[in-house]
Amino acid sequence: MPDKSELRALLSEAAERSIRYRENSVERRVAPAPEAVVAVERFVEPLPDSGSDDTDVLAMLDDIGSPATVTMTGPRYFGFVIGGSLPVTVATNWLTTAWDQNVGMHEVTPATATLERVAMDWMIDLFGLPKNAAASFVTGATVANFSALAAARNRVFADIGWNVEADGLIGAPPLTIIVSEETHPTVFKSLGLLGFGRNRVVKAAVDEQGRIDIGRFPDIGGPTIVCTQAGNVNTGAFDPVGEICELVKPKGAWVHVDGAFGLWAAASPDLEHLCDGFQAADSWATDAHKWLNVPYDCGVAFVRDNEALKSAMAITAEYLMTETESRNPSDFTPELSRRARGVDVWAALRSLGRQGTADMINRCCSNARRFAGALTEAGYEVLNDVVLNQVLVSFGDDATNRTIIDEIQREGTCWCGVTVWQGRTAMRISVCNWSTTTEDVDRSLDAILAIARQQNY
Ligand SMILES: Cc1ncc(COP(=O)(O)O)c(C=O)c1O
Repeated sequence: MPDKSELRALLSEAAERSIRYRENSVERRVAPAPEAVVAVERFVEPLPDSGSDDTDVLAMLDDIGSPATVTMTGPRYFGFVIGGSLPVTVATNWLTTAWDQNVGMHEVTPATATLERVAMDWMIDLFGLPKNAAASFVTGATVANFSALAAARNRVFADIGWNVEADGLIGAPPLTIIVSEETHPTVFKSLGLLGFGRNRVVKAAVDEQGRIDIGRFPDIGGPTIVCTQAGNVNTGAFDPVGEICELVKPKGAWVHVDGAFGLWAAASPDLEHLCDGFQAADSWATDAHKWLNVPYDCGVAFVRDNEALKSAMAITAEYLMTETESRNPSDFTPELSRRARGVDVWAALRSLGRQGTADMINRCCSNARRFAGALTEAGYEVLNDVVLNQVLVSFGDDATNRTIIDEIQREGTCWCGVTVWQGRTAMRISVCNWSTTTEDVDRSLDAILAIARQQNY
């Protein structure tokens, strides 16, 4: 057990090493050097019989681990849909970790439970969602989709007189799940976890941008859940959720929106038109660890019908303070015990404010357009309409694309991923980091174009 001065020395050393890492994150290679990746094998050892000095443990982590990290938090990481972490959220995350609160029950964690409630209310306001919607902080959009669809399952079955919480799905009346050909795989995973089955779905057709084609929407009859999307993971395109709601809500269907990153468009007056009519849906899932740039992990589920989410998630036990006037966070999440991840959201929004949040979203989109413009000008084909922060570019045939993308990742100036869009291999650029500047875009473009030209394309 360290005494006070050892505790101070250890935590100061951790802060110092973290600061050094973050200071270098603008200039360091994005992909780690191959020898650093090989060196992580030094972690692989038998469990030591006796313990080590805490500062040695920290040093080992930093000395071996830090060089082997991909600089996801830096301004030239454009892989998947990965935000960085705003400095304020790293700082408040450290303090929250030091508090080590289990935020399941309000009465025992009043500070963090209140901060989470404020953060939820702010997001409900930013996205224009119903004021009394239930919200819950979970690990990411995967679990946010799962949680919202669990609420959907309870409500839709309750409406036809079946208590799915009590009686499960065996022998339950049939229910139709409508997804699209472009629904994110995590929604299928959620459907599997919820007992619906990943494949027992009706697929709505999509257009060339991956949006549900409302003209070819399947007929609705009987109890139905419709899964829509705000922000296609490849193109950034939005399903016409407003129109879908108008079509299916009068027939009693539940409409869910997977807005892992796209829902943040609603926080920008310049982009909110993309989310027109989304507020008419019944549930929404998003991530804060993507576009709000808070540390991993942080997703959020919103459900219009408070009771539907609570009926799926709440538990009671004599030893738990479940009968309380206050809002117990664990009444709305799959977990009972968890970290207070909502504090990171509170810190980001408190620091950015409404305007700063909109600016951050707009900046990423404008940088995405800068990428698209320069790549088109250089003679390469941009495969999507760049409506948000995603750019798909093709340098030629599939093999050429893969060779160029591998080389871009290896070279280290920036990092972009590979995808297959409507049968064509392409490079995916996702601009999500708060700190990416136009200079970072230009520097990345220089590296990308030099590599593409080396391949004679
Ligand atoms: C549209 C969409 N839904 C869900 C997810 C899953 O999010 P997470 O990895 O945070 O669970 C993603 C991830 O990129 C996504 O783009």
